[in-house]
Amino acid sequence: MRVAVIGTGYVGLVSGACLADLGHTVVCVDVVPEKIEKLKNGIMPIFEPGLEELVERNVKAGRLAFSTSYNEAIPGAEVISMAIGTPSAADGSADMTAFFAAADMVARSLSGYAVIANKSTVPVGTAERVAELVRAVYRGEFDVISNPEFLREGHAVYDFLHPARVVIGSDSKRATDVMIHLYGYLDCPKITMDRRSAELTKYAANAFLATKISFINEIAHLADAVGADVEDVAKGIGSDPRIGKEFLRPGLGWGGSCFPKDVRAMLHLGDRHGHPLPVTRSAYDMNRLTRTRVIDRLERELTSLKGKLVALLGLAFKGNTDDTRESAAIDLLNALLERGATVRAYDPVARLAPSDLNGHELHHASDPYAAAIGAHAVIVATDWEEFRALDLARLSSVMADKVLFDARNLMNPDSVRSSGFRYFGVGRGRSS
Ligand SMILES: NC(=O)c1ccc[n+]([C@@H]2O[C@H](COP(=O)([O-])OP(=O)(O)OC[C@H]3O[C@@H](n4cnc5c(N)ncnc54)[C@H](O)[C@@H]3O)[C@@H](O)[C@H]2O)c1
Repeated sequence: MRVAVIGTGYVGLVSGACLADLGHTVVCVDVVPEKIEKLKNGIMPIFEPGLEELVERNVKAGRLAFSTSYNEAIPGAEVISMAIGTPSAADGSADMTAFFAAADMVARSLSGYAVIANKSTVPVGTAERVAELVRAVYRGEFDVISNPEFLREGHAVYDFLHPARVVIGSDSKRATDVMIHLYGYLDCPKITMDRRSAELTKYAANAFLATKISFINEIAHLADAVGADVEDVAKGIGSDPRIGKEFLRPGLGWGGSCFPKDVRAMLHLGDRHGHPLPVTRSAYDMNRLTRTRVIDRLERELTSLKGKLVALLGLAFKGNTDDTRESAAIDLLNALLERGATVRAYDPVARLAPSDLNGHELHHASDPYAAAIGAHAVIVATDWEEFRALDLARLSSVMADKVLFDARNLMNPDSVRSSGFRYFGVGRGRSS
C-alpha cells in the first residue's frame, strides 16, 4: 500500500520505517528541512535502538523516502498517518496547533480516496474536527479514523512490529478494512471501535500506567517509613496476575514526552466535561511529591546542599533514549541548583538545552567517573543499563564524600555499601 506519514519524530519516523519494512511504500513528511536533509543523508535525528539499520535497509529497497513536500507524499497515498506532536498548552489541555496546521496541509493536497489516521495522542472529538476541516477544503472521498500508538521510546522499533494490539477507531467500514489490511502482517489482535472510544483508550492507557507507578512510589515511601523493602513488596504483589509485574518500579516517578502531558490533558478533558478525575489527579500530585521527597532526603543526608558538588548520572527521562522532555532528572537538577549545589552531569546520549536550565549552568562530564571527581554525592537519575555495572570502587575513590543515591533502585544495596558508600534507594527500608 502507499502510505504518507506526517511528522518524523519518535512516532512518525519509527512508524514510517516499520511500515516500509512490512512491505508498504512510505513517504515521511516533516516541516523541518534540516531533519529531512539529515534523513536523506542516512543520519538519524533521534536516538532509537535499531532505527538506523531499519531506515537504511528500506531506503535502499526503494520503499522509504523523506520529503518536506505534502504534494509529493499525499496524492495517491491510501493511508495518511498523522504523527504530529501534541504538547501541553498552559492550561494543561493538548496544544493542537501543529496538529491542525498539518491536517489542513494534508487536506489541501488530497486527491482520490484516502484514510487519514490520527496516530498522535489527541483529545476526544479530534477525528470529527479533522473531518470537518478536510470537508471544508476537499470535495473528494476520505475518512478520518483514530489509530493511537502505544510504542515505548527506547523499544520503539520492537514495539511497533510486535504490538500487544492495534486499536482502530473508525465509523466507516471502508476505512476499517484499509487499516486492517495495512496492519495485516502484524500478528496481534486488531481491536475495532468507534473513534471517540479509541481516542479515550490512549489517554486511559497512559493514565492507568502512570497511576500504577504513582501507587508503587506511594508504597515505597511507606516502606521507608516502616522499614520494609519495596522491591520485595513489588515482587510479592506483581506475581499476582491480576496486578502484573510491569510498571511497579519505584524511583523518581514518571516523566517523558507522553505521561505528564497526557495525564494533564485527560484531567483537563474531565474538567471541561464537568467530570473531575480524582484518582488520576492524585496520581499526578503523587508524582510531583516523589521528586521532592528524593531531593529532601538527599539534603538531610548532606545537612545542606549549599556549596556541595553533586554528580548526576542520567538526564534522559529513561534509559535507551536521548529524550529529555519532562525528565525527572531535569526537575532534580533544577532543585539541586536552586538549593545551592553545583552539579556535574553525565548521560550516555542525552544533552540538555539551555532552556531546560532556568539560567543555571551545568557541566557535562565525559563519563560517570569524571562526573564524580570531588563530588559529595552521586545520584543515579536514569535507568541506563551501564549504571548497573559501575565500577563502584573506582567511583568512590574519586569522591569527597561517599553518598550514593540510587533514585532508580538499579543497584544491589549491599554491594554499594561494601564499596564504602552510604547507600540510599527509594523505599528500601534501611535507607530511611
Ligand atoms: N514519543 C512516544 O513515545 C509516543 C508514543 C505514543 C504516542 N505518542 C504521540 O505521538 C505524537 C507524536 O509524538 P512524537 O514523540 O513523535 O513527537 P515529536 O515531537 O518527536 O515529533 C513530531 C514531529 O512533527 C513534526 N511536525 C510539526 N508540525 C508539522 C507539520 N505541519 N507537518 C509535518 N510535520 C510536522 C515536527 O517537526 C516533529 O518532527 C504525540 O501526540 C505523542 O503524544 C508519542
